[in-house]
Amino acid sequence: MIIIRNIKDMQQFARDTKRSGKTIGLVPTMGYLHEGHLSLVDEARSKADVVAVSIFVNPTQFGPNEDLDRYPRDFDRDRTLCEERGVNVIFAPEADEMYDPDSSTWVIEEKLSRGLCGAKRPGHFRGVTTVVTKLFNAVLPDVAVFGQKDAQQALVLCRMVRDLNFPIEMVVAPLIRESDGLAMSSRNRYLSDDERARALVISKSLFAAGDNYHAGTVNEITRNIEAAGGKIDYVEALDADSLEPPGDDASRILIAVAAFFGATRLIDNIIIERG
Ligand code: PAJ
Repeated sequence: MIIIRNIKDMQQFARDTKRSGKTIGLVPTMGYLHEGHLSLVDEARSKADVVAVSIFVNPTQFGPNEDLDRYPRDFDRDRTLCEERGVNVIFAPEADEMYDPDSSTWVIEEKLSRGLCGAKRPGHFRGVTTVVTKLFNAVLPDVAVFGQKDAQQALVLCRMVRDLNFPIEMVVAPLIRESDGLAMSSRNRYLSDDERARALVISKSLFAAGDNYHAGTVNEITRNIEAAGGKIDYVEALDADSLEPPGDDASRILIAVAAFFGATRLIDNIIIERG
């Protein structure tokens, strides 16, 4: 496994790889890897010859009062996990390698990124679409793998790739959970034992909704989470493809939750297939 820190070297590696007839699968991450990330590595491995993982805590997708400075980082641990999982190359640039001080170009998706996290975290998706474009231009992947954990992010990025004709196959892989149901996240490490125990209400409520979706589902989830001491950022049921309010004919409904337990904002979701 090799580690590349700058864009030019990464592009050179990518061109050499392609010249030798091999395809590249990219898994973009912000590091502090867990089994959710590593499941994306497995997916990339099944789709491409060479697997690249990018590790970059992207400043432009964090708001001024968010957790950029304390976002968990452990490069040595990430490197070991990648090596064990058969990753071929880690692309891990510093912020000043990715962004020039007078950088002034953004990639913006204007529809799917409006609601949910886009409404609650202004500028967040602009940061995500811009950095993923830059990662694509550095790593030159044939395939890119994202997780359903960030359902809206996956939709926004697939739309960006379609709209801007990136020659990249987008793969969205399933959401991986801890054995007790909690959606795996690098941010789970912020939770105290008590907060973690109470946060299980999120996945429990989503599973219950999956078993019995009805007109009162969103209110029920909201009440359950509040009863467990969580502070709701949003609970919404939307058409899973358009993120519009679901019509009666919607075949897939996304129920998406964002809630705070203590200072930690957790997101989770489930898709309900109908008819
Ligand atoms: P990060 O939160 O590190 O997540 C990297 C990728 O792992 C994303 O595609 C995310 O959906 C996926 N992932 C995280 N937890 C998962 C889980 N429990 N199950 C399945 N997949 C999971 O998302 C980002 O970083 C950034 O926004 C990024 C796309 C890298 C751009 O900076």
